[in-house]
Amino acid sequence: MASTDQAAFDDSQSLADLDPNTVVIPPHGGTLVNRMASRSAKADLLEQAGHFHRLQLNAREFSDLEMIATGAMSPLEGFMGKADYSKVVDEMHLANGLPWTIPITLSTSKVELGGVREGQAVALTNESQEIVAVMQVEEIFTYDKEAEAQKVYRTTDQAHPGVAALYRQGELLIGGPVVVLELPQHTDFLEYRLRPAETRWAFAERNWHTVVAFQTRNPVHRAHEYIQKCAMEIVDGLLLHPLVGETKSDDIPAGTRMKCYEVLLEGYYPANRTMLSVLPAAMRYAGPREAIFHAIVRKNYGCSHFIVGRDHAGVGNYYGTYDAHYIFREFTPEELAITPLFFDHTFYCRRCGGMASAKTCPHGNEDHVVLSGTKVRQMLQAGEDLPVEFTRPEVARVLTEQNGK
Ligand code: ADX
Ligand code: MG
Repeated sequence: MASTDQAAFDDSQSLADLDPNTVVIPPHGGTLVNRMASRSAKADLLEQAGHFHRLQLNAREFSDLEMIATGAMSPLEGFMGKADYSKVVDEMHLANGLPWTIPITLSTSKVELGGVREGQAVALTNESQEIVAVMQVEEIFTYDKEAEAQKVYRTTDQAHPGVAALYRQGELLIGGPVVVLELPQHTDFLEYRLRPAETRWAFAERNWHTVVAFQTRNPVHRAHEYIQKCAMEIVDGLLLHPLVGETKSDDIPAGTRMKCYEVLLEGYYPANRTMLSVLPAAMRYAGPREAIFHAIVRKNYGCSHFIVGRDHAGVGNYYGTYDAHYIFREFTPEELAITPLFFDHTFYCRRCGGMASAKTCPHGNEDHVVLSGTKVRQMLQAGEDLPVEFTRPEVARVLTEQNGK
């Protein structure tokens, strides 16, 4: 069952036919993981799985499963066992020595587990009780949520959305490799749901040797556009890679954001140097640690560079503005093997007559157009127009229309 026999996996997106010279960035650990069952193995697996004890995944676990299955989480082949978990929490590396900063875990409870023991297989189901994967349970172990919160999120405050999600988990973790039978049945953004093998193909087709990825969970405002375009000056292409997995309830919904990205790209970006695709990951809001995680995942999608701006993946006031830059110093460039591009806080300066940052602008705050997320939400709610210095009018229009609904 959770077999590692290659014939058991779906290799319809194999990179074997690609000219190796065009794929410049190896995935994390050297091999793009594929844990999707092949068509021929699927029926048998499903039949066997019908006899296994079932464990139900929540939305975040299912999106992690999707990322494992497609290789976005390479080299992970399943949910973490104790050795990986402990080393990731304590030392930001996997047991095999590769950098990794966020625990990718499957939690459960004694009650849910029934009599399942280590060495047995379980069937993982989605929220409609359909079997989506088979997991070989190699380890069942207890863990210290407070220690994980403190080390990964730098706080044990349950007002932090990542900490709150951690504290809601079951008291046990189960680790082991998975074979995935069904990915989440997405109904939205289908043309933008490229797997790592597919973005790699797309980059090769475009003859892009260097690609910068931009992570976002917001509409792209002019500050974002500016740092993307600064980066585009030194690489072949931009992968605009919004995260569309679970986010906190007051973040702007992915559907609205996708409309913003489309009108922005259409109006202001060269089509032959830009690609829009979505990342199915859930947001953790782990700030610096998530910046490293975001970079590694984008390396798996074939990107050579990754943008890290102000308070990357931050929430509230838990992280210093540039903590997500500083954390990269704790790794060697060789072990990360994706180049971070760091940007200071950027804004429109009326005196400069353009976008700028503290690094490039000599003027004071009174000349700068800076709007917080809260302020933007308030303006939209009041039906006020967002200033063109802050956001492109086409994007502002989408946001106003969506807000009016
Ligand atoms: S998140 O992952 O960091 O939560 P968000 O959409 O808020 O996504 O930001 C996307 C990227 O843009 C991050 O790298 C962030 O650091 C950067 N960023 C956002 N706003 C600014 C800004 N005004 N100046 C510089 N970088 C910014
Ligand atoms: Mg942010």
